[in-house]
Amino acid sequence: QLNSLAVAAGLKYFGTAVGESAVSSDSAYMAIVNNKNELGQVVAENGQKWDATEPSRGSFSYTQGDIVPKVAKANGQYLRCHTLVWYSQLPSWVSSGSWTRATLQSVIETHISNVMGHYIGQCYAWDVVNEAIADDGTWRDSVFYKTFGTDYLALAFNAAKKADANTKLLVAYYNDYNLEYNGAKTDRAVELVGIVQKAGAPIDGVGFQAHLIVGSTPSRSSLTTVLKRFTALNVEVAYTELDIRHSSLPASASALVTQGNDFANVVGSCVDTTGCVGVTVWGFTDKYSWVPNTFSGAGDALIYDKNLVKKAAWTSISSVL
Ligand code: XIL
Repeated sequence: QLNSLAVAAGLKYFGTAVGESAVSSDSAYMAIVNNKNELGQVVAENGQKWDATEPSRGSFSYTQGDIVPKVAKANGQYLRCHTLVWYSQLPSWVSSGSWTRATLQSVIETHISNVMGHYIGQCYAWDVVNEAIADDGTWRDSVFYKTFGTDYLALAFNAAKKADANTKLLVAYYNDYNLEYNGAKTDRAVELVGIVQKAGAPIDGVGFQAHLIVGSTPSRSSLTTVLKRFTALNVEVAYTELDIRHSSLPASASALVTQGNDFANVVGSCVDTTGCVGVTVWGFTDKYSWVPNTFSGAGDALIYDKNLVKKAAWTSISSVL
């Protein structure tokens, strides 16, 4: 079972995102989630995001956000918490507000202290800042960047440290996608870590979302090279949202084999990198996945099929653990 194998291979966990609605509606799905030997870590797919936790200014709600942490607690699984400062799933009162540095700083600090305070001691890691960089390597032009330039990065990590001052359990992450290709976006993420560190703010990890494509996934050694660029900066790394999509469906038999090899390359690179702590798939079954809703025509990006049966990818992962 994948988490047991991952732990034996030196990782902390193999885990998954869990969709809030399936928790109460799908007991066959939950039987897999609740098997700690298979999945040693969970993360809320949507419930802890800003639009769910602070839909209007100063009014906090944890109904959705508490669903997955409760599962982690019942099962004794690691909980990754996701996410605090992100341009998306951000309520319009934030994204369309007219802010000065002082007013937006107070909004960010209030958000972080309330949400982190609510989950204090429960999260193994928090994705403090998510997706601050555009695919071409420029800074993403969010309300945060427009107001602060890059100063909001250190501001957010400092606010996280302050909210966690009593437990100091927190592993504070920067999390992004398309860092796997070692291009301009990767270079900028390296710069980001340096910016935050130079500002004296605590950043402990970089999350590689790894929303990848069958047949276009970098090799195990290329991926290892990228991970090591970050561990060299004294931060841990993890694959935080792994899925590898077929560009067109149905997938051929050979595409399923390629998908398995791609998953093995990703997981293998984590095993090969001291400081890579774990792998999280963004959902484990093709029954529920954000991919078909986001990438038109693409799908079947996960390691169990729609009937909750293990795919070739599952076996390929198990063979590198
Ligand atoms: C996705 C969820 O899976 C969807 O259910 C939701 O509609 C949109 O967000 N990067 C992230 C995740 O950091 O939070 C996103 O999750 C996928 C991309």
